[in-house]
Amino acid sequence: MAKSTPIRFGICGLGFMGRQYFAHLSEHPDTVVVAACDRDADRRAGRWTDRVGNLSTTGGETVCFDGIAGYERWEQLVADETVEAVAVTLPTTFHADVCVAALEAGKHVICEKPMALALADCDRMIAAARRSGRTLMVAQCIRFWPQYEEIKRRVDAGEVGAVRFVRLRRLASPPDYSAGGWLMNAKRSGGALFDLHVHDADFAQVLLGLPERVAAVGVRGPSGGIDQVAATYRYADGRYAVVEGGWMFTPPWPFEMAITVAGEDGTLDWSMRRGPDILHYCGGTEAETIAVAEQTGWQRELDYFVRCVREDRPVDRCLPESSRASIALVLAEAASIEQRREVSFGQP
Ligand SMILES: NC(=O)c1ccc[n+]([C@@H]2O[C@H](COP(=O)([O-])OP(=O)(O)OC[C@H]3O[C@@H](n4cnc5c(N)ncnc54)[C@H](O)[C@@H]3O)[C@@H](O)[C@H]2O)c1
Repeated sequence: MAKSTPIRFGICGLGFMGRQYFAHLSEHPDTVVVAACDRDADRRAGRWTDRVGNLSTTGGETVCFDGIAGYERWEQLVADETVEAVAVTLPTTFHADVCVAALEAGKHVICEKPMALALADCDRMIAAARRSGRTLMVAQCIRFWPQYEEIKRRVDAGEVGAVRFVRLRRLASPPDYSAGGWLMNAKRSGGALFDLHVHDADFAQVLLGLPERVAAVGVRGPSGGIDQVAATYRYADGRYAVVEGGWMFTPPWPFEMAITVAGEDGTLDWSMRRGPDILHYCGGTEAETIAVAEQTGWQRELDYFVRCVREDRPVDRCLPESSRASIALVLAEAASIEQRREVSFGQP
């Protein structure tokens, strides 16, 4: 039965993503933020005077935290019995422990991507969700980003015919805002391979399913991990995806994400450098312009999660098992880079 009172959220981590969640969950008619956790005393009191973020920058504000319990440690937030759902926006190496503890405490959980850096951690998270009967969703925001969602909708509707190949890319300069510089430490972030490129590995999976073989080249960068990568995924039926990403461009390189899907009857293309609209090439002299709302996927993925929890239905559009498969994909890329050969993917 649908829940009638607002879902009481706790947010773990009040950096860039935690603030995005806070902004949306505070405004959403079906949710209320009752607790927040950060080891930084200013952040957990709502004094957000520092700059955070890459795509859109937030900072310089003080937010009213009246009525919100501010905790220093995530364990305290997870133990708070008034919290029904937890948003995990902590650095990546915390994801598995916080998700498992929150699920075991009977909370629903939305956790930032990447799910974890190791498949064993993904497995712990999935097992805890199954045991608890609570909802776990990894926030694969690109699945909900308006342009990607619209391209997927049109592909599924057969508007470009059978898909032959896909190109996905995400290019940035090194992020300099993370708390204590954790993003620039591959042991904590996985480097750009896990932190940035996983978005496109995930969306290739959404469009084409899981490949048969993976080949990648990459270079180590300032995080000490793979910070720039170009991969190809090969599918049994001859389709392929080219997936490129990294944060090794020199500042002030402007962040870019882009997608091209080529089908037998047409090509869909979007690059954020061009603006919000998608182009549909379908013959003739000019491409058709498809207008798309200027919104982020962050709001839309939260709306989806909230709806699923309220209506007590599974998060079919973003099951944790598929987020785990995206981690398996980037691990296969890492193996291919290290072994300097194409690797078979098989069942992750
Ligand atoms: N979906 C996206 O587009 C997107 C974008 C950026 C980051 N992310 C992901 O979101 C997560 C958080 O990244 P971010 O950019 O918000 O990082 P951030 O550094 O801006 O924020 C992390 C916050 O966690 C706090 N923190 C760190 N260790 C803590 C601890 N032990 N206890 C309590 N608080 C602690 C820090 O003080 C900081 O406020 C990461 O998994 C990252 O990969 C996703």
